[in-house]
Amino acid sequence: MEHKKELVLGLAGYGVVGTGLARALEEAHQLIPERTGRSLRIKTILVRDVSRPREWPVPEGARLTTSLEDLLGDPEIDVVVELIGGTTTARDILRRALEAGKHVVTANKALLAENGEDLFRLAAAGNLHLGFEASVAGGIPIVHTLRNGLAANRILSLSGILNGTCNYILSEMTHKGIAFNQALSEAQQLGFAEADPTLDVGGFDAAHKLVLLIRLAWGVEYPYTRLPVQGIDTMDPVDIAFARELGYRIKLLGHARMTDNGLEAGVFPTLLHESFLLSSVDGAFNAIRVKGSASRSVFLHGRGAGATPTGSAVLSDLLDIARDAKPNNTGFLRQTPFPATIHNPDEAVDPYYFRLQVPDNPGVLRDVAGAMAENGISIAHAIQKGQAPDIVPLVFMTHKATALAVKNALARLEELGLLRAAPVCYRVLAPE
Ligand SMILES: NC(=O)c1ccc[n+]([C@@H]2O[C@H](COP(=O)([O-])OP(=O)(O)OC[C@H]3O[C@@H](n4cnc5c(N)ncnc54)[C@H](OP(=O)(O)O)[C@@H]3O)[C@@H](O)[C@H]2O)c1
Repeated sequence: MEHKKELVLGLAGYGVVGTGLARALEEAHQLIPERTGRSLRIKTILVRDVSRPREWPVPEGARLTTSLEDLLGDPEIDVVVELIGGTTTARDILRRALEAGKHVVTANKALLAENGEDLFRLAAAGNLHLGFEASVAGGIPIVHTLRNGLAANRILSLSGILNGTCNYILSEMTHKGIAFNQALSEAQQLGFAEADPTLDVGGFDAAHKLVLLIRLAWGVEYPYTRLPVQGIDTMDPVDIAFARELGYRIKLLGHARMTDNGLEAGVFPTLLHESFLLSSVDGAFNAIRVKGSASRSVFLHGRGAGATPTGSAVLSDLLDIARDAKPNNTGFLRQTPFPATIHNPDEAVDPYYFRLQVPDNPGVLRDVAGAMAENGISIAHAIQKGQAPDIVPLVFMTHKATALAVKNALARLEELGLLRAAPVCYRVLAPE
């Protein structure tokens, strides 16, 4: 076996992912030379507080530091692994590491989605690796899958459960019938949700990941700020129960598909028919379905977060570097993606689920159906059940309609005085 120099790592961050990487690396210490001809060594670890207790010991021979210069100024360090999170210091670390001629690996989806372009350009200019397998769906190798395994496919669509916190909360609401706030506080107690859960439950974390997947799948930039995003923070267990009655589960889905008019994408709570594999993904798990022109549907399922699953994803990028593979950061020769041709989100066509609180008067169903029909929306099936006196929930699924038609129909129902509470309306993922 050819004996090459070991690959020397500088880590920025020794929290959940940093310690997970160290642990996964120790567990794979025999396997890595068998696969790459080299071993990997952590030399220096940047943290805020060197005295803090750690979940995994600092590897033998490595040392903690609070000075970034100990990483950037050390010619022996080949790769800087950024695992601190946030978008300011992390960006500075990655930029300066690339400028110093070092390969970089990061798990930071927020940074790459909101502000990644110049980092990819810098990496390309220096012929350096910018690995980010860990930034989407933790232990699931979706980045390598899109960049390598499915590289010869025209990607037709991708749909993913990309946020474990939301999936855990929705699963608890589904199986226990509990309210959003109770499921959230249980998730926080179990460490599945942050003290400030906005990024997760607002859908923004899934949106970051979707922007990265779109870049990999189509080589285009869909600006994060233009992506339609709806979270699960207003989810009512009543809708989960009605959806089940209709044979569906509600999941927070990041979805993108290529249409004749451009890319249609967004993050929405979505009804999935029980026959879809994605609908059975429960708890804190993630899953992604990619439809390629030749491969047809490919389904990946696994742990979207956690110490060693995410550490394993970081290691897969480090193994590419250890093998002296040519950098293939974006999966395309161009390192600056083209701007995406974005299909007007108002023109996206999907079936919909509606729950309306309407007065319990004769003819209401006719009036609602009329307002829908005026906007070209036809009702597929409806459920009407008594609840509060004089008000009934009217629940129905529609055939495919544009988002604009749905908005107009809701405005019309409001105008007709037919709504006794804010209407609820979710997309349904149609079979392709
Ligand atoms: N947690 C997961 O399962 C997971 C999964 C996928 C991706 N990610 C991503 O991985 C990254 C790291 O997440 P994490 O969960 O490992 O975070 P974490 O547990 O909070 O750890 C962050 C680490 O970074 C260090 N740090 C933070 N700010 C610093 C600064 N200004 N200077 C020096 N060191 C600093 C901290 O030092 P101290 O320890 O001294 O405070 C800590 O060791 C994030 O981008 C996250 O989105 C996480």
